[in-house]
Amino acid sequence: MRLFRPQPRITLAVADEAAAIAGLYTRAWERHRGRLDERLISDQTPGADEVAAWLNGGFEVFTATLDGQLVGVVRCSFPTGTCLVDRMAVDPDRNSGGVGRVLAEHAIARARRAGVTKVWVQATPKLEEVVNLYRSLGFRESAHLRAHYWGEDVTLMELPL
Ligand SMILES: CC(C)(COP(=O)(O)OP(=O)(O)OC[C@H]1O[C@@H](n2cnc3c(N)ncnc32)[C@H](O)[C@@H]1OP(=O)(O)O)[C@@H](O)C(=O)NCCC(=O)NCCS
Repeated sequence: MRLFRPQPRITLAVADEAAAIAGLYTRAWERHRGRLDERLISDQTPGADEVAAWLNGGFEVFTATLDGQLVGVVRCSFPTGTCLVDRMAVDPDRNSGGVGRVLAEHAIARARRAGVTKVWVQATPKLEEVVNLYRSLGFRESAHLRAHYWGEDVTLMELPL
């Protein structure tokens, strides 16, 4: 029921949120254990130190909160005049509640403000909901690769701005 979805508040994360964000990644990816290669899960569930390093430079990390509670996260970086959107995760208790869509839309709006010509995302085709989400936002598949470091296939998707 999209009409009645509560609207999360999206803000730029700051250093002291690193541990909470790392905890959210752990919770969000837990349900994929056994279904996806452990190397992918491990890469997508960084510890607080790694998240703190992102927040110290090179990345913009946005959090979604509902009633002051952290419910989602997404990361943007800006390699060579494009915007890479990755590390999106939503609290499993809130899945299919619209938080992921709001985060992805926020990241695209940020890319537009940055003046880039293209937004990139990577999705593993096994996670159909992720591919569906990005397709519905106008992304199109541009390449498929075997990411040996993750032990999974990866679909690269792009949105020209
Ligand atoms: C992927 C993820 C971020 C989506 O967050 P979410 O808040 O559940 O997503 P939303 O409720 O905003 O759904 C957005 C769209 O995704 C798709 N979707 C969501 N849940 C779905 C499901 N169970 N089945 C099929 N499609 C689904 C739909 O297209 C939906 O569109 P709608 O807004 O018209 O309903 C979340 O499931 C998650 O954290 N997963 C684990 C980590 C992960 O896979 N991250 C992505 C890495 S690229």
